[in-house]
Amino acid sequence: MNLDYLIQRVLLRATCHLSPGARLSRTARIRNIAGDSQKIRIGSDSIIQGELTVFAHGGQIQIGDWCFVGEQARVWSASSIVIGNRVLIAHAVNIFDNLTHPIRAADRHAQFRQIAKSGHPRSISLGEQPVLIEDDAWIGAGAFVLRGVTVGTGAIVAAGAVVTKDIPAYSLAAGNPAKIVRDLTADELQSKTGNT
Ligand SMILES: CC(C)(COP(=O)(O)OP(=O)(O)OC[C@H]1O[C@@H](n2cnc3c(N)ncnc32)[C@H](O)[C@@H]1OP(=O)(O)O)[C@@H](O)C(=O)NCCC(=O)NCCS
Repeated sequence: MNLDYLIQRVLLRATCHLSPGARLSRTARIRNIAGDSQKIRIGSDSIIQGELTVFAHGGQIQIGDWCFVGEQARVWSASSIVIGNRVLIAHAVNIFDNLTHPIRAADRHAQFRQIAKSGHPRSISLGEQPVLIEDDAWIGAGAFVLRGVTVGTGAIVAAGAVVTKDIPAYSLAAGNPAKIVRDLTADELQSKTGNT
């Protein structure tokens, strides 16, 4: 049971759309600043332990079926973050489709002042670029996936990697910035999905 979710509902705040069998664990946090529950959609049988945030000025998060988002993982959208089916996102992963703060210090401070005084700005540009994580991908613990990136079907991102460029399907990427370290072997590719 997720007490925070119940409190958000009681306060008549936007939360998320949960498909049948989708679960928010005790530690999950839904921060739907945009104020429209349809902007965060969680597919059937997916389990969320981390935080899903949609900014006030835009963004949407769509998570497919049988996905996992681990504890202290954070998915922050001001554009669009689409996660396919059977995707595992380990604990403490961060996924951003925007810069989160302006590059110019004066603009950054103005944004911070506004957040502190009256909440997230409804009109701001943060270099938004959509993120796509395709079916059967696995993002290792503590990895970062930055704006504009596509992680291909079945690809694996190693723990602690910082992904700044697209990762091809069925490859393994590691490091900062993440590089392709190998393709999956024929044996590892056998029956490509775990879909039964
Ligand atoms: C600092 C940051 C915003 C800069 O992003 P950016 O403006 O998209 O970066 P740029 O487009 O200028 O990237 C320049 C180069 O550095 C690489 N790069 C960008 N961020 C990188 C990172 N975190 N680690 C390693 N390389 C990185 C880019 O791929 C690019 O490489 P290239 O020249 O080979 O193409 C981004 O790296 C970042 O850390 N975002 C997360 C911010 C955060 O922690 N927010 C939390 C809320 S406070």
